[in-house]
Amino acid sequence: MLKTHACGELRKEHAGTTISLAGWVHRRRDHGGLIFIDLRDREGIVQVVFNPEVSPASHQTAGELRSEYVVRVEGAVAARPAGTENRALPTGEIEVIAHDAQILNRSMTPPFYISEEVEVDESLRLKYRYLDLRRERMKQNLLLRHRVVKFMRDFLDARDFVEVETPVLIKSTPEGARDYVVPSRIYPGKFYALPQSPQQLKQLLMVAGLEKYYQVARCFRDEDTRADRQPEFTQLDIEMSFIEEEDIISLLEELFTSMIETLKPEMRMARPFPRLTYAEAMERYGTDKPDLRFGMEIGDLSDIAATTGFAVFTRAISAGGRVKGICVPGCGTYTRSQLDELNRRAQALGAGGITTISLGVASSLEELTAELAKSPAAKYLSLDQVKAMAALLQAKPGDLLVIAAGKPDMVNKVLGELRREMGERLGLAPPDLLAFAFITDFPMFEWSETAGRWQAMHHPFTSPREADLPLLDSDPGKVLARSYDFVCNGFELSSGSIRIHTSELQRRMFRVMGYTDSQIDERFGHLLEAFDFGAPPHGGIAPGIDRLVMLLAGEENIREVIAFPKNQSAADLTFNAPSEITEEQLAELHISFKNGNPPGNTLAL
Ligand code: AMO
Repeated sequence: MLKTHACGELRKEHAGTTISLAGWVHRRRDHGGLIFIDLRDREGIVQVVFNPEVSPASHQTAGELRSEYVVRVEGAVAARPAGTENRALPTGEIEVIAHDAQILNRSMTPPFYISEEVEVDESLRLKYRYLDLRRERMKQNLLLRHRVVKFMRDFLDARDFVEVETPVLIKSTPEGARDYVVPSRIYPGKFYALPQSPQQLKQLLMVAGLEKYYQVARCFRDEDTRADRQPEFTQLDIEMSFIEEEDIISLLEELFTSMIETLKPEMRMARPFPRLTYAEAMERYGTDKPDLRFGMEIGDLSDIAATTGFAVFTRAISAGGRVKGICVPGCGTYTRSQLDELNRRAQALGAGGITTISLGVASSLEELTAELAKSPAAKYLSLDQVKAMAALLQAKPGDLLVIAAGKPDMVNKVLGELRREMGERLGLAPPDLLAFAFITDFPMFEWSETAGRWQAMHHPFTSPREADLPLLDSDPGKVLARSYDFVCNGFELSSGSIRIHTSELQRRMFRVMGYTDSQIDERFGHLLEAFDFGAPPHGGIAPGIDRLVMLLAGEENIREVIAFPKNQSAADLTFNAPSEITEEQLAELHISFKNGNPPGNTLAL
């Protein structure tokens, strides 16, 4: 090794020892006679002093040093003179007096500061990702990710899980997104698909008798990127045989609580993790991934609304719809223009509009007078009706009631989204709280208007509830699945399910989804055949590692916890991918373009 110690590990007890260090010049200060260098390596920063009276040669070398130069230093650790300690630095009680210094490499001036956490254009950060990753925040994110993955591996290893790698060049698996495909050189006109997840492979491993499998698995999905979505991402893929829902749910709860207690003891969790059915989650929070860090639950005001003379409410109810609302705390003083903005937002989300009731300041709800309850619908609402709605939504004087009327799905969606946005705007979610929850009893299918057929809400390998099997052909929309989601702070962290393990039921499922028998055989014959060789009952789950680390790191975008992510347009700016390939490569892959080369294609030979 070119160094005996890491910069960041040096403490007072090292004083008097002679050491060697190697790292990057973080900062340089020239104080006339003395030159001070903050030397940085992965473990931290230490101050190195170059004194011309101690070593004229190394002082001269120090004169040449610039930010990000790579340097090796030999010297003695010394306690800093009293009064010059730096309490902000773990190594701040000591400094290294340089006896010898060697420049190992020079550096151009970096395109952005490495030593300061300043806002930098993301394209520049991604182009020079290797410099971006030198910055403290990014380094901490990568280290956290490493510790999370190691914790998962150790936890599962201690419970007899076996990690198995599965291939990346496979055949398309339906997980709801578009596939990335790879053309075959050997089979002209044929393509591999990159796995959207190892779903079928892990099920085949259960047929193979592995019983408890996991994999830190890379998944590929050609879908639009979002703050919590990347074209390639990583799952902790888990599958077990001879289990029921409860086994997976308790395994996950134990894994996540022990991981957070160990790695993020400063974060709080509510335990046991609450469980909500899908129907309950939609009813109370308007989403299947509710942020449970704050209340502001959606309440059903339909019974009260039906007694009012307000046509917007009564018409919605007689058309089979609902009138529901949320109470936004402390916003009873919202101005006309703030209320208009809220209304426009609701319209953008699909509502015809919203009705607001601003509750004025009174000592209690009972004391509220008609003058203190302001609403565009005021003349159609009695004071008692307003009070009843406020009480149902657990409102206090000074709060704002936001009410939507119409089709139940629309009402839930609009109020759910407004709840989320207002919660964020008002800072209602404590940042140190991780509100995990399991969502269960999902519908098996959802109707796709575009495809004109039933589609699996989770994936088609999910088992329906046994009691609902008779409904499979008669009323597929009513069939509930043996699936469960694991959510946290408004994000879906994992999905999983108990699977189908007989070919008869699997074939029946595909038929409900509109596949013909020949399509089923062509696309899934391998799996159906495997089920006929003694497939055990099995199930699993797959927490998304990127999303989890994002939450633990307090980041708002998964790009911040991925070493080399794609940008918003799915491009890799470090490598400049995707890029053209040579004519030879195209020819080998039997690919030619209809009109010659695609636009902008300047093939390098
Ligand atoms: P699902 O498709 O729900 O389930 O994915 C599981 C988890 O993976 C993460 N995830 C993503 N993370 C980042 N970018 C993406 N584009 C992305 N897509 C998904 C989420 C999600 O909850 N095979 C099943 C699992 C199973 O049934 O066992 C599956 O992949 O955190």
